[in-house]
Amino acid sequence: MSQRNSLTITDNRTGKNYEVPIENGAIKAIDLRQIRTDAADSGLTTYDPGFLNTASCQSRVTYIDGEKGILNYRGYPIEQLAEKSTFLETAYLVLYGELPNKQQLDEWQYNITHHTIIHRNIEKFIDGFHYDAHPMGMLVSTVAAMSTFYPDAQHIMDPESRTLQTYRLIAKMPTLAAFTYRHSIGMPFAYPDNDLNYTGNFLNMLFKKTELKYKPDPVLQRGLDLLFILHADHEQNCSTNAMRGIGSSHVDPYSAIAGAAAALYGPLHGGANEMVLRQLNEIGSKDKIPNIIKRVHAGEVRLMGFGHRVYKNYDPRARIIKNLAYEVFDVTGKNPLIDIALELERIALEDEYFIKKKLYPNVDFYSGLIYQAMGFPLTIFPVLFAIARTAGWIAQWIEMLQDPDQRIARPRQIYLGNGPRDYIPIDKR
Ligand code: CMC
Repeated sequence: MSQRNSLTITDNRTGKNYEVPIENGAIKAIDLRQIRTDAADSGLTTYDPGFLNTASCQSRVTYIDGEKGILNYRGYPIEQLAEKSTFLETAYLVLYGELPNKQQLDEWQYNITHHTIIHRNIEKFIDGFHYDAHPMGMLVSTVAAMSTFYPDAQHIMDPESRTLQTYRLIAKMPTLAAFTYRHSIGMPFAYPDNDLNYTGNFLNMLFKKTELKYKPDPVLQRGLDLLFILHADHEQNCSTNAMRGIGSSHVDPYSAIAGAAAALYGPLHGGANEMVLRQLNEIGSKDKIPNIIKRVHAGEVRLMGFGHRVYKNYDPRARIIKNLAYEVFDVTGKNPLIDIALELERIALEDEYFIKKKLYPNVDFYSGLIYQAMGFPLTIFPVLFAIARTAGWIAQWIEMLQDPDQRIARPRQIYLGNGPRDYIPIDKR
């Protein structure tokens, strides 16, 4: 039998046959449009809420094999990058497709280091938030506000402008994040220190007090850098899809990143790391674990930090983070919640419900424990995620802009509402 790279579809409503090409394991949804019952029919469409089985783009940035628990950025396994790379080097790789040579890396680091300061008016903007404003809410708003400070960012088809906005965004996200944190605890802002590396400087802006020079702990600095590497990109997740969707209208990247960060804020996505800690606190002790498992079985709660749309195996990032936790605890002292987390993981992985649904710990299950041990308050956890993911958002945004297949994101719908009817005056309703 000859093998053809195509799909033959029989429409049983009309008895007609159609042949649709298969490319890279996919058919084009638009090829189904020709399948109609009559001339008035607008054509067959697919219904896929939540994009369970719809590819919205072709991408060369990140590869995930969810069954095997594999994650590669631009072909490089996450385990190797976690061990050997730095966040800024990985961000360069994610953005430009190749690891930088020495000169490229030096220039990249220089450019990021020299764009960390934010306009004084943005500081005033942050000052205007209430003292208990959630740092993620402040971050989303201030990133959006930055679009008004850099009107040149509207030139999205100009590669030079995109490069400048890339420097600004990657450099300023930690500054914004740190300033929102300082604002929430009533501390004066600590300005960037160009002698420190990316994560060292971030720790400086967060935690510097009266000392003339802040000296970051090397283990914590490296730990945070590693966490940033693990969060740099994750292909078409909810916030990246938001970035591409918003960016497809050709708005400037600050506005698009504000939308992406808003998507990340949700507890089912990047907000999960905060929720894991809240849930572990609520559980409180190992003997209460069976109770929460019972509530999960009953459908009353979800176990935060478990499950993933793509991973049906252990999230490789969670494995790396779990190991990192002990290195960090050697410096900070053990986070007492780790014992509850380990026992929860052990029980869940042996539990019929979790086995059947292939629910494993995801990246957020252990990251919060480390952040907390490092002294970060819970509300800043999603902000840390956003700093790292900015690299991925921009890489995916640029890829989208350069892809001739892409159009403004505009899904179709299946309309099930009323047919046409006449307006009823208010006294007749
Ligand atoms: N606890 C209990 N049950 C779960 C969980 C969980 N954490 N996750 C999924 N399920 C169940 C769910 O109830 C459903 O059961 P049923 O088929 O009987 O209705 C089944 O597993 C499939 O779940 P789903 O919601 O259809 O899966 P999804 O792919 O739409 O959602 C998810 C993925 C990550 C939103 C979900 O697993 C979840 O809510 N997890 C908890 C929140 C979390 O940890 N999010 C962080 C994700 S990793 C970081 C990131 O990239 O955002």
